[in-house]
Amino acid sequence: MPSYPLRTGTASIIRSEHLAMRMIDKTDLFCFSPTGGTAEVGRTFADAMADVVEFVDLCANKPVSDPGDGIAVFAAPVFAGRLPPVAAERIRSVDGHGRVAISLVVYGTRAFDDALLELNDILAERGFTVIASGAFIAEHSIVRSVGQGRPDGRDADDIVGFAGRVLSKIGRGDSAVPSVPGNRPYRPDPVASSHPTTSDGCTLCGRCAKACPVGAIAIGNDGVVTDERACFMCMACVKACPEKARGLPAPVMDAMTAKLGPLASVRRPNETFLRRQGPYPAPASTGPWTHPASRTSSRSSGSRGAGSAPPTGSP
Ligand SMILES: Cc1cc2nc3c(=O)[nH]c(=O)nc-3n(C[C@H](O)[C@H](O)[C@H](O)COP(=O)(O)O)c2cc1C
Ligand code: SF4
Ligand code: SF4
Repeated sequence: MPSYPLRTGTASIIRSEHLAMRMIDKTDLFCFSPTGGTAEVGRTFADAMADVVEFVDLCANKPVSDPGDGIAVFAAPVFAGRLPPVAAERIRSVDGHGRVAISLVVYGTRAFDDALLELNDILAERGFTVIASGAFIAEHSIVRSVGQGRPDGRDADDIVGFAGRVLSKIGRGDSAVPSVPGNRPYRPDPVASSHPTTSDGCTLCGRCAKACPVGAIAIGNDGVVTDERACFMCMACVKACPEKARGLPAPVMDAMTAKLGPLASVRRPNETFLRRQGPYPAPASTGPWTHPASRTSSRSSGSRGAGSAPPTGSP
């Protein structure tokens, strides 16, 4: 069972309801998480659903040789309102062959825009039947004062409560594909607008190179060298550096902080999607496609994650 702290009466109720639910034996958690927020959400969810969780690290860039069976969970972060292209590519490499899946996107308070729709489209394309989806909040990996400390205990309550509702849907034999917000065509592909650099404090320990999901960092006699064509600005190297010697250039950080900093006071609610509203998948020609009635926000305060976005390409 999950080992999250129980702090509130609500949490106890959620947990006792959840305990009444039959957990599944095993699930595979396919997870792309450069700085760990997505992994924390994914693991909390998967641990609440299944006795055994097989963690498949899509950041490790190893081919998924065994397609597996049973229920699969996919968890990916939101970059500029989309999936990071490298995450989309690695998820595309997994063969669904009729498996049931649950999709999770994790974002940094601003908005998840088209990312959940994109994830569900890829999973459907690969032969998965998505029966439930969620958009959860984690600390913003660039401006860490935004959503600082999330996912926290209240988020864990939301995630575990969602797992309970998913188990109950599975128990009813209900495999309806949920409607999720988002538009087709999707927002433009995320493009890295900058890249981390290394300061004098570097000890050449190599942790940044090890953390990079795309092998963009080489450590040599000349110090740390970043392949800027491969770098997609995921911030994994920045978080991994024990010397705080890695970071985005100061003017870039200042601009990001000016843009996103005001969101530090916003507690965006997590959202879950279990019900189908209208046809799915919708044809691309229908344009904007949202079904507000299908959204179950875990909190009533705050504005909505999708659709409230600053300009295209915004992190
Ligand atoms: C390049 C980049 C773009 C991002 N774009 C968005 C975004 O569009 N909306 C948002 O709310 N958060 C955005 N974020 C924040 C991440 O979605 C969030 O921090 C997420 O938890 C990162 O996942 P990870 O902790 O698994 O690395 C972005 C982060 C990065 C690095
Ligand atoms: S070099 Fe770029 S892609 Fe690699 S970890 Fe750092 S930010 Fe991510
Ligand atoms: S993790 Fe930090 S100290 Fe270690 S090599 Fe990379 S930049 Fe240098």
